[in-house]
Amino acid sequence: MGRSLITGGAGMVGRQLARLLLARGEKVDVLDIVPPDKLPADIRDRVILVRANLSNWAEVMDAVAHSHPDTIYHIAALMPPNSEQNHAASWEINVNGTMRVLEAARLFKVGTVVYSSTTATFASELPEPVPNDHPQCPEMLYGVTKVCSERLGEYYHRRYGVNFRGVRFLSILGPGRVPGSGWSAYTSLVIEECARGNAYTIRVNESLRLRFIYVKDAALSLIKLADAHEGRLTTRIYNLDGFSASTRELVDGVLAHVPDAQISWEFDPEYQHVMDTRYGVIQHRMDDTLARQDWDWQTSYSRDDAIRDFIEDVQKGRV
Ligand SMILES: NC(=O)c1ccc[n+]([C@@H]2O[C@H](COP(=O)([O-])OP(=O)(O)OC[C@H]3O[C@@H](n4cnc5c(N)ncnc54)[C@H](O)[C@@H]3O)[C@@H](O)[C@H]2O)c1
Repeated sequence: MGRSLITGGAGMVGRQLARLLLARGEKVDVLDIVPPDKLPADIRDRVILVRANLSNWAEVMDAVAHSHPDTIYHIAALMPPNSEQNHAASWEINVNGTMRVLEAARLFKVGTVVYSSTTATFASELPEPVPNDHPQCPEMLYGVTKVCSERLGEYYHRRYGVNFRGVRFLSILGPGRVPGSGWSAYTSLVIEECARGNAYTIRVNESLRLRFIYVKDAALSLIKLADAHEGRLTTRIYNLDGFSASTRELVDGVLAHVPDAQISWEFDPEYQHVMDTRYGVIQHRMDDTLARQDWDWQTSYSRDDAIRDFIEDVQKGRV
């Protein structure tokens, strides 16, 4: 089996991806800015942590040269609201960081680069479901940086033959999500905090309905896309879809497993407004026909499966 380098491998998706790759016998290098103790205990000694910053050309080049991976999973990014509060850092990490990864892939002849984009690359007024090739007019700088990265990847593919492929994720539900990593982070935090026995306050209304993909499906999709036969690919970037859940349904799902969960509601009209407007895109169903056709994609986790598995993992300390 080969060697993979995961940028952002200490994050929510990256650590699940590392677990899946290790389980199939791959060697895994993690490029991240965090110290080693931020890696989950079950993978800490099984991956090589390359402490490097995507903002730094030399560090990225060194990391790729030394790792010499067959596949780079490029998933590190600055997400909203952080991305919207620091434009310069957002551009530096999300756009220039992608450029550095692609340049390194070109120079060091990396087999495949798999990229994690977002449905936030679309606007919030959308047809249902949103076609794979729908025009992208992002509401947030975050989405702009992700569109730029998609186009950069396609350019490196066309111009230099870098085997760039990517997916657009909906909101990802799963353990290990940190506050500030996306406006929808509360959807995961309420489950994780309650599973740990902590109280949690929700600031949006209970009927707010978003679309999600469970983190284990998200991680698996990246591997399936990396493995996909080139001859079957009809595009470089694929919409993915998942399941829908209202805030009430998430809370009921938590209460089914943690009956004494301490959940309170403190409605914040400004937060709700962001979720309905700038972040409204994650209320829409994505047309994932191409992913299904080209690389036989299907999700494994329904809403209820995801919540059950999430709570079990947190209670077993597997975050
Ligand atoms: N979480 C979601 O709901 C969601 C939805 C759609 C798309 N995505 C995309 O999926 C990817 C993974 O998301 P996640 O939830 O795992 O994010 P995360 O915030 O949990 O992880 C990101 C990781 O990147 C690392 N990182 C940040 N800046 C870096 C830098 N300058 N250099 C090196 N490493 C750096 C962080 O330390 C962290 O470990 C991102 O590209 C994100 O845009 C996420």
